[in-house]
Parts: sequence; structure tokens; C-alpha cells
Amino acid sequence: MALLEVRNLTMKFGSLVACNDVSFDVEKGSVVGLIGPNGAGKTTLFNCVSGFYKPTSGRMFFDGREVTNLPAHEVARRGAVRTFQVVRPLKEMTVMDNILVGAFLRGADADTAREVAEECLCLCRLEGMADNLAGGLPTGYKKRLEMARALATKPSLLMLDEAMAGLTTTEIRDSIEIIRGLKKGGITLLVVEHIMEAVMSIADKVVVLDSGVKIAEGTPQQIVEDEKVITAYLGAKFTERMKRTGGVTRND
Ligand SMILES: Nc1ncnc2c1ncn2[C@@H]1O[C@H](COP(=O)(O)OP(=O)(O)OP(=O)(O)O)[C@@H](O)[C@H]1O
Ligand SMILES: [Mg+2]
Repeated sequence: MALLEVRNLTMKFGSLVACNDVSFDVEKGSVVGLIGPNGAGKTTLFNCVSGFYKPTSGRMFFDGREVTNLPAHEVARRGAVRTFQVVRPLKEMTVMDNILVGAFLRGADADTAREVAEECLCLCRLEGMADNLAGGLPTGYKKRLEMARALATKPSLLMLDEAMAGLTTTEIRDSIEIIRGLKKGGITLLVVEHIMEAVMSIADKVVVLDSGVKIAEGTPQQIVEDEKVITAYLGAKFTERMKRTGGVTRND
């Protein structure tokens, strides 16, 4: 069953069509990768789905109910929660307090909030960092904190916007493990990511955008062999490298 249904989503900024008649489903319990070149419309799609932008046209359904045009806080309250491409932790607060903010957003009492926050701290492998100030964290940990804070709101759909950008190879591997753990825990994920090897290893399905248009949808294997996707985004070199190595390396 689809947890998220996006139907004919179009978002225009003046004459620029950032998302152009995009439709796809995110099945419950799956990890869906959303990929495409810079400016393809991935973040715009996130902004529409999460209620930060009102789409020009199209409809969205979450957990069987229409969420088109609902404000962001209402979409989040229903369980569809996103992170931001540019991380924005509350810098002067500790890691723990940042995560607590997420838990309190869900309306938890103080004890429950702490329990939830501790659980999210572990899920995102931030144990030992609880008392650090968020502003001083290295990028990799800031990204994980952003994830933990979103998780603390107890989402059923977590939408990650480039949660692995700027991370080291080891940190990427950690993030992959974290995402696998979240999936096992029953969370559905929609993941925007440029690091293809990561997408390949976590996604059940991949949706490809190019200039706002969905140009392909399929299993990771189908996607890396799709001529349109190779031409628009991956490049022949990537496909060659995947055939050669098959491993998780940086896509740069
Ligand atoms: N608020 C906005 N106002 C005007 N144009 C916008 C706005 N947000 C995005 N755009 C434009 O819409 C297009 C899609 O941008 P978007 O940020 O969604 O791409 P993206 O796929 O997330 O790219 P990246 O991989 O670089 O993050 C771009 O041409 C961008 O300049
Ligand atoms: Mg983006």
C-alpha cells in the first residue's frame, strides 16, 4: 500500500517549471530514492509534499488522506517529516536539547520526551554527543542530528534531503546503516541523494527527475541501466564504475 501518493504535481516559479506533472508512490515500509541533476526539482518536490510550498497544481495523499495545501505543521503532525538540505540545528543548544525539541513538537510530556530523545540519539549513533553544543558539531554529526530531531517527532514517513552530502566515506557507510535500521524499525523513507552508491544500496525504488520531469522510475538496477538516466545524470563513467566495483564509494 502507498503511504505517500504524489499525483501530477506541478510547481511553477514564474515561468520556471520546477516540478512538472510528477506522479509516483512511496510504498509503506520502503525506501524510495529521489535523484536527478542539480536544479532537477528534488527539494522543490520535498517542499511541496511537506507543506512548505503550495503546489501550482496536482494532489498529494498521505496515509490515505489528502494533504494537498495543508500547512507544514499539519503535514508533520500527520507523520510526514522532512530534513533540510542546509542543516539548521539550534546552535546554542546541546545535541540532546535539539532532539528534545523534536520530541516536544509531538506533544510528549517531559519523561516521554527524554525517552524518545535518547532512543533517537542511539538510532542516529550520536551517543556520547548528547552534551555537545550543536553549533560546534562537524558536518557529518550535524546531518545526523537533523535526522534525530526529525525522528523524535515520531514520523511514519521520513524525508531526507541530501543527508549524506559532504560526509566522509566512513560517515556515508554509517548513514547507510542508520537508514537501514530505521527501515527495519518500520519507518518509510523518501531520500534525496546524489551519492549513487548509497542510493543503490538502500533504495527499493528510485525516481529520477530531470528539469522537473520524472524521466524514470524503477529498481536501482533498472535505473543505473536506463539510457535516459545515464544521459541526463549518471554518465557512462558511473555505469562502468558500478559494473567494475559494485561497492560504496563517493560519487564525485
Ligand atoms: N523559491 C524559489 N523561487 C524561485 N525558483 C526556485 C525556488 N526554489 C527552487 N527554485 C528553482 O527551481 C529549480 C529546482 O530547484 P530545486 O532546489 O528543487 O532543485 P534540486 O533538484 O533540489 O537541486 P540540488 O540537487 O542542487 O539540490 C531550480 O531551477 C531552482 O533555481
Ligand atoms: Mg536540492
